[in-house]
Amino acid sequence: MSSGFKWFIVIGVAVLVGLVLVVIYGSLVYLAPNANASRWQGGSGMMQDQGWAGGYSSNGERIYFTGTSDSGRTITFRGGPMWLYMHGGSCASCHGADGRGGSPVMMGTAIPSDIRYEHLIAEEHDEGEEHPPYDDELIKRAITEGLNPAREPLDLTMPRSDMSKEDLNDLLDFLKTLQ
Ligand code: HEC
Repeated sequence: MSSGFKWFIVIGVAVLVGLVLVVIYGSLVYLAPNANASRWQGGSGMMQDQGWAGGYSSNGERIYFTGTSDSGRTITFRGGPMWLYMHGGSCASCHGADGRGGSPVMMGTAIPSDIRYEHLIAEEHDEGEEHPPYDDELIKRAITEGLNPAREPLDLTMPRSDMSKEDLNDLLDFLKTLQ
């Protein structure tokens, strides 16, 4: 091979590699803002679906889904898993939008219960549960103090919420609407 031809190959390859890099860089710059835009749209769309902009029909519903009340106050709590403190969350994060619970949660050591009102006040319980049925006051005590009707502590996966009387009543009213 003549040395002239060798240089031709070397320079040709270098130019090709350069072109490929330019194309890759160019497409990254071109695509990145679009990718971000669609992600943001997705994000805000989800927030709207959840009625983030105050679209809840009651204060109780808002507390159940967002963990904040109409007064704008974030409800503080003790216990519960670490992620709840870092990412926020609400009753719905664990007990589900329909209140049926039943699915394990991250870093949880107990399965969230079915907290639909009818279920809580029923005489019949899930297997292994031995305590009298809940009533309104006992449900509120479970939410604030984490005690079941037999005064036994609930698993610490269930946070103990610090709520005003009004917020607590609104939340209870909402639990009564979960079918
Ligand atoms: C981080 C997850 C988590 C969050 C958030 C949470 N809970 Fe729970 N909750 C649980 C778990 C787990 C249990 C079951 C505890 C047990 O078995 O000892 C429970 C139990 C309960 C119980 C008692 C039911 C029973 O079977 O004795 C009630 C009532 C309840 N939760 C209501 C609520 C309400 C209302 C909220 C919102 C203010 C809420 N929980 C938020 C996880 C959670």
